[in-house]
Amino acid sequence: MTSRPETAGKLPLTDLADMKRRRERIVMVTAYDYPSGRLADAAGVDIVLVGDSAAMTVLGHESTTPATMDEMIMLTRAAARGAKRPLVVADMPFGSFQVSDEDAVTNAVRFVKEAGADAVKLEGAGPTVSRALALVGAGIPVMGHLGLTPQSAIMLGGFKAQGRTASKANQLLDDAKTLEQAGCFAVVLEAVPAPVAARITEELTVPTIGIGSGRDCDGQVLVYHDLLGLYQGKAPRFVKRYADLAPEIQAALEHFAADVRSGAFPGEEHTYSIPEDELEAFLSGSKAESGTEA
Ligand code: KIV
Repeated sequence: MTSRPETAGKLPLTDLADMKRRRERIVMVTAYDYPSGRLADAAGVDIVLVGDSAAMTVLGHESTTPATMDEMIMLTRAAARGAKRPLVVADMPFGSFQVSDEDAVTNAVRFVKEAGADAVKLEGAGPTVSRALALVGAGIPVMGHLGLTPQSAIMLGGFKAQGRTASKANQLLDDAKTLEQAGCFAVVLEAVPAPVAARITEELTVPTIGIGSGRDCDGQVLVYHDLLGLYQGKAPRFVKRYADLAPEIQAALEHFAADVRSGAFPGEEHTYSIPEDELEAFLSGSKAESGTEA
């Protein structure tokens, strides 16, 4: 496996469109805290997405909709401390941009000012286009997200592939173009048939980042917990597991518990010494003291 060399500065946002032109694939992964942000950076990832998938992977909810602004701010702030070179994109949680353009700008500004995000991601088209325009107008870079948009999974009839009829595929293409015109610097395509995603990718000048949308997208994203085997729920078919860490972590925790219970941990090497004379003075003092108390 190869990784990009670590560089000192932040990846310029404008490099993403150049990467698309050069047909150099863009790598995005979710991260939700300092260690995951730091590891993604060290692995040469281009974009760290602090996804609202955190509601499920980190916070234990059944869906993404309960994620709050305050939770997302805290997670983004931690991930941004670790991800120095990658662009850090904060996912705007359900409720943070649906009501009005003003709400969207207020909440996106929080991500930039309080959490150190470089950009935000918004799900959907329709009213989202006006939000994207408002955010770009306020100087905040926006990533779009089309196809299976988990915040509207109920309206979409569940966690299903999208754009599987000619008219729905055309709608996706139109939506992607509208988001590009609104100033989005990239568009995530989730669970879109590969040939449809390929066509959208061809038609846009900004990069598409695919998840379950085939290899012709300009980049790919996976959820950290899915790709590392940290999340024990059923993974969607588009997930490739690059490690199976949950059983390893559980085995290590079981080993620790057994060592504590048997007295095998801590060993000599895990403890600190005290000079003999200090120890004697301490022990005699404490004996004398406990003797007095008794
Ligand atoms: O929240 C998230 O992790 C996402 C990715 C799946 C694109 O939106």
